[in-house]
Amino acid sequence: MKAKSMETLINYAKNYGFVYQGSEIYGGLANTWDYGPLGVELKNNLKQAFWKRFVQESPYNVGLDSSILLNPNAWVASGHVGGFNDPLIDCKACQTRHRADHLIETYDPSVHADGMKINEMEAYIKDNHIPCPACGKHDFTTIRQFNLMFKTSQGVVDEQGLDLYLRPETAQGIFLDFKHVQRTSRLKVPFGIVQIGKSFRNEITPGNFIFRTREFEQMELEFFCKPGTEKTWFDYWKKESMQFLIDLNLHADNLTFEDHDASQLSHYSNMTTDIEYKYPFGFDELWGIASRTDYDLTQHQTHSETSLEYMDPVTNEKYIPYVVEPSLGVERLFLAVLNEAYTSETLESGEERINLNIHPALAPYKVAVLPLIKKHHKEEAEKVYRALSKHVMAVYDEAGKIGRRYRRQDAIGTPFAVTIDHDSLEDGTYTLRDKNTMEQTRLSLDEIIAHIEKRIKF
Ligand code: GAP
Repeated sequence: MKAKSMETLINYAKNYGFVYQGSEIYGGLANTWDYGPLGVELKNNLKQAFWKRFVQESPYNVGLDSSILLNPNAWVASGHVGGFNDPLIDCKACQTRHRADHLIETYDPSVHADGMKINEMEAYIKDNHIPCPACGKHDFTTIRQFNLMFKTSQGVVDEQGLDLYLRPETAQGIFLDFKHVQRTSRLKVPFGIVQIGKSFRNEITPGNFIFRTREFEQMELEFFCKPGTEKTWFDYWKKESMQFLIDLNLHADNLTFEDHDASQLSHYSNMTTDIEYKYPFGFDELWGIASRTDYDLTQHQTHSETSLEYMDPVTNEKYIPYVVEPSLGVERLFLAVLNEAYTSETLESGEERINLNIHPALAPYKVAVLPLIKKHHKEEAEKVYRALSKHVMAVYDEAGKIGRRYRRQDAIGTPFAVTIDHDSLEDGTYTLRDKNTMEQTRLSLDEIIAHIEKRIKF
């Protein structure tokens, strides 16, 4: 097996229709990515798996789809207008722009620069003669705080327009609807609200393919619990989150919890951990899990002058719930899953054979329909394809030798292939090939459908 690099994954993703460079025919728009026919399927499958585990199967959680644009006062209350900043530093020699905390952490990975004050970061960079990663010189500007929220304006007349922000996290929409959801679903604390949707951040240093981008999707759970019980729920959701990743076939050796120490904690958090994954460029954040206390609901209660207190129906106690928040990026999970599943080997013939060992529930196509000889079996195969595609994502392929067609499907992780041959026309049975076991079984269409549906369950 060949070692995986980011370059290998990017080329694979592009060549097979998972991810393309955004706006490419116009020369591209840096760090934007489009998800092709296979990419959109994988993304949808990841989101579905998350929703199934954290909403459908959860005894505690319900779903929500709040708007991206919020009343701008919500972002003042949440602290994003005042404090959602990254420390920006420019190289005077080559004019490249960097995140000061990243400069420090790259120089010495044992330092947690996100816990340092601006003047401490400036002094550290100077004292340690940290060079510019682009040109190697030591001539930096002072550090400026750069707000990461994308601004836009609403209204047809510019001067009268209302300044709005594209949400930098989906969480705040959940807090704003906390009361509605609790009342209309007659929920008792503890309960959680899940939301999946786009978020936007004007990142200073996006990069590593789809790892850090300015437009991305989050899958967030805000879990509301009684103050004092947050440690129990924090531990509960840590365990559930890790189990979800392992069930998606991410290897435990490639996953680790990285607890934040006191200097790294956000002002609203009393406990935070990241689940880090071993990407080709090393361990880095996949999933943030934070205990956010009652900070958000209290802030929104104060700024909106609307009570967000919860009354316990049994004890009549009134309180603002504490919140535990697991927050996972769809694209980071996408990258982790691709990295984990991709294998390639060079055969003696020099041919490269790719096998995507992906969980069947995540595979873009569940079954490939292959007529053995196009001339004789096309009509029957098209009938089978139409029948299968009513149940699962199926793909039809009649081009080339059957062995090659199998390999094409192996390369994109299709767990099953159905071959239509001469006997199929006689007895209505087809060969079902299982990619992982390489077993071939002769089955009727109904049996094939039942078998596939059973095997692709998550
Ligand atoms: N509501 C909490 C929150 O947004 P975060 O740690 O800033 O916390 C949560 O983000 C997750 O969202 C991260 O663990 C990561 O998976 C994803 N994420 C954050 N910024 C991202 C970016 N610029 N590009 C891609 N994914 C990102």
